Amino acid sequence: MPKKNKVVDMKNVVSLHGNNGISEKKTVESLTKEVNALKAEQKEFCEMAVRSILHALDCKDHYTYGHSMRVTYYSLVLGKEIGLDEEGLYDLEMASLFHDIGKIAVPDEVLCKPARLTEEEFIVMKSHPEKSAEILEGFKPFEQAAKYARHHHERYDGRGYPDGMKGEEIPLFSRIILIADTFDAMTSTRPYRKGLPYEVAFEELHEFSGSQFDPFLVEKFCEAMAREKNKNESTFTLSIIEGEFAKDAA
Ligand SMILES: [Fe+2]
Repeated sequence: MPKKNKVVDMKNVVSLHGNNGISEKKTVESLTKEVNALKAEQKEFCEMAVRSILHALDCKDHYTYGHSMRVTYYSLVLGKEIGLDEEGLYDLEMASLFHDIGKIAVPDEVLCKPARLTEEEFIVMKSHPEKSAEILEGFKPFEQAAKYARHHHERYDGRGYPDGMKGEEIPLFSRIILIADTFDAMTSTRPYRKGLPYEVAFEELHEFSGSQFDPFLVEKFCEAMAREKNKNESTFTLSIIEGEFAKDAA
C-alpha cells in the first residue's frame, strides 16, 4: 500500500528566515505551541524568582514571611468574592506575596522590636512600602506588584502613606491588601499578645470602614471570611508558593 502523505493547508504555513541564511517552514499550529511553551517557561522562571526573593525574606524574618503567606490567602478570598478573573487573581497573589518585601531593608532592632516603636523607629518602619516598590520595579514582570506594594498603606480618607492617595485613586489591589494585612496583624498571635478572634477583627474593620478602608471591600471581606471560618479548615495553599500553610500560625 502506498504511504499516505499528511495534507498540510499551505495558507497555514509560515516561512521563517534565520540569521544563518537557513529558512524553515512551520505551521501556525506548531508556532502557537512553541509560543505557549515559551510563555509557560517564562512564567516558571518568574515564579522561581518570586520564591527565591521570598526565601530571602524568610531568612530575614520568619514572622513576616508567614504573614505574607496569610495576607495572600486573605487577599485571594476577597479577590474571589468580588469576582476577579484567573489573571486578576494571579496578579493579586503576586502583589500580596511581595507587599512587605521592603521589610528586608528595615533593621532587625526595629522590625522585631517586641514593644511600641519610637517616633524615629516608626519613620524607618514606614519606609517599607517604598522599599518594596524599589526592590521589585527593576524587573518587568514585577512592575505591577511594585505599584500595588507601594500603595498598600494608603488610607481611603487620604491620610495614609507614602503618597496620601484617596478613595479609588488607590489601586484596587492595594486596597485589598491593606484589609488583608490589617486582618492578619489583628488575628495572628505574637510572643507578646494573643491574636483577636475573627469576630472582633471584623468589628475593628467596620469601625475604620470609610476612613482607613474601602467600605465596599470591608463588607465583602467580612462576608467571605465568615464563610471561610465555617469551613473549619486549618490550612490553606497558594499557587505560586508550594506547600500547606497553617491559618493560625504566628
Ligand atoms: Fe506593610
